[in-house]
Amino acid sequence: MELSGAKILMTGGAGFIGSHFVADLLDAGASVTVYDNFSTGLTENLEGLAVDIVEGDILDYDSLRRAVAGHDAISHQAAQLEITRSIGDPIYDLTTNTIGTLNVLKAAKETGIAKRASSGFLLVSSASLPRASSLRQKLMTILNLHAADLRTVLR
Ligand SMILES: NC(=O)c1ccc[n+]([C@@H]2O[C@H](COP(=O)([O-])OP(=O)(O)OC[C@H]3O[C@@H](n4cnc5c(N)ncnc54)[C@H](O)[C@@H]3O)[C@@H](O)[C@H]2O)c1
Repeated sequence: MELSGAKILMTGGAGFIGSHFVADLLDAGASVTVYDNFSTGLTENLEGLAVDIVEGDILDYDSLRRAVAGHDAISHQAAQLEITRSIGDPIYDLTTNTIGTLNVLKAAKETGIAKRASSGFLLVSSASLPRASSLRQKLMTILNLHAADLRTVLR
């Protein structure tokens, strides 16, 4: 996918990983909308970055779908990672990380993003990423590491 001029919606864009991806995408010439409920994300992480911010929850499907419309791609980085919260409220943890992700996939399908994206949908765990200095390098590494079996085209 050509990043220059692309409109990307980043869930969890105010978080640690998301905000670094946002910066890389802006450097590559994309425009970015951050969709985040700010449960752990910080506005400080986005300081100085020219992004649109939509405060919303991936569990609120209608809000998510509205935000997704008009974008070329979604980068899904919103997640519940806090161990103490996951122990204290495992249902919330499970719901955010499973139903929330399902909502993102559903919104991609219903808004036509899944069909339009020329590369389809790439499922990747960032935990497996070796050190790479730029977004392009990371993406190329992902594509090399994860063959077509991790690529699901939602058509
Ligand atoms: N931090 C790491 O070292 C690391 C390593 C490998 C993979 N990852 C993965 O990267 C992803 C992001 O992790 P992170 O470290 O940036 O965490 P983080 O907590 O800093 O960021 C998560 C973001 O998601 C937002 N969020 C949480 N629940 C939400 C919801 N229901 N709706 C909308 N926004 C919501 C939070 O406000 C936050 O901005 C996770 O999937 C994580 O497993 C992180």
